[in-house]
Amino acid sequence: MTLSRRDLLALAATTPGLAWLPQMRPVQQQSLGAAAPPLPNSPGPDDEAEWQRIAREFLIEGVHLNTGTYGAMPMSVLEATARHLRAFERITRQEGVDRVALHTALEEFLGAWPGSVAVVRNTTEAMNIVAAGIGIAAGDEIVTTTHEHIGGMSCWELAAKRHGAVLKTFTPPLDPGHEDELTAAWLAEVTPRTRVWSISHVLFTTGLKQPVARLVQLARERGIVTVIDGAHPPGMLALDIRQIDADFYASSPHKWLLAPKGTGLLVTRPDRIASTWPLIASGEWDVADVRKFEHVGTGNDSLLAGLAAAVAFHQKIGREAIEARVRWLATRLDAALRATPGVRVVSPGSAAFRTAMVSCTVSGRTGPELQRELARDRFRTRVIAEHGLDYLRLSTHIYVLPQDLDRVVERLAALAR
Ligand SMILES: Cc1ncc(COP(=O)(O)O)c(C=O)c1O
Repeated sequence: MTLSRRDLLALAATTPGLAWLPQMRPVQQQSLGAAAPPLPNSPGPDDEAEWQRIAREFLIEGVHLNTGTYGAMPMSVLEATARHLRAFERITRQEGVDRVALHTALEEFLGAWPGSVAVVRNTTEAMNIVAAGIGIAAGDEIVTTTHEHIGGMSCWELAAKRHGAVLKTFTPPLDPGHEDELTAAWLAEVTPRTRVWSISHVLFTTGLKQPVARLVQLARERGIVTVIDGAHPPGMLALDIRQIDADFYASSPHKWLLAPKGTGLLVTRPDRIASTWPLIASGEWDVADVRKFEHVGTGNDSLLAGLAAAVAFHQKIGREAIEARVRWLATRLDAALRATPGVRVVSPGSAAFRTAMVSCTVSGRTGPELQRELARDRFRTRVIAEHGLDYLRLSTHIYVLPQDLDRVVERLAALAR
């Protein structure tokens, strides 16, 4: 028996445990390859009909509030990846990936220098290339915060242990009123031995956006190398990497850029390329060119086909429009959570520092309990249990709709005790 959407909704209304069914979007009835109407261009942040149309590009069941871990691919990205994969297996008629076009598109999308973007596997790999490649020496001080992700932090622990360097961490102001509070906290850590500032552009714990361009400028004046863990911003914020001007910028387009899992980026300031060692040596390992960071033996080019499609998807809708929407959703969520008794928002109160991830606690409940309860209603969330924290983190990407947020806030209100 095939159930219609109406049947499913009726079933959901009468069957405990199936409350998530109404969240299924019609795209799930669409097959791979079905022609879809064109994507809206530059919709306004509250242009609901347009965003609903965009949300139908995804296969998501339930509500995906964990883009901070990984995003969902839209149909066009899934299709480009699958098309390449299928063609490749024909062996004699393999579909290539235009790497020059891919690099040009990425540079344009990120506002990066020509020839500065290496496509790697993820942020973790990009950060490791830098930590192993810049010649950390005994006594060098590497400074970062107590809110780093293991993917951006472990490489420095390894470098410190291996070379006798010193890893220094500090807790940044988590609810700053002005960016000077953040810059002052970084400057307070500087000594004559400071070699590296490893800065998360957006903290994975609370979504706090750090003033990276200003920090880079302050670091450069002091001869400090800047490495930005930018796992989140590409695809979430309309970036201009040249304006940030860091020595290195690492990212994971499988998060907010909605590219296939296993795609990463390392942007290297052109004057740093020649002096940075690759992590893995293969063909072209000794060239003064970012290709030396990309050669890791045989990989999966289908992911690159998907990455190119992900950039095109974002370009069609518009980077600025996406940033405005996801931040608008987060601000709406932030306000609703703050108005809910028993809920404490731990993300920044000021919109200047807020991005598209909002973290909170709920009285009388642990993070894992909240996550488990919300999962019953098909809300996918992230518990931040690192560094002794116990937060629930909610990411607001373009496939999340305001009514989804209303429902999650309602559930959290009911869970508070
Ligand atoms: C700030 C930050 N850095 C690094 C990583 C690691 O990303 P990946 O697993 O894609 O290397 C994450 C993942 O969530 C992150 O949030």
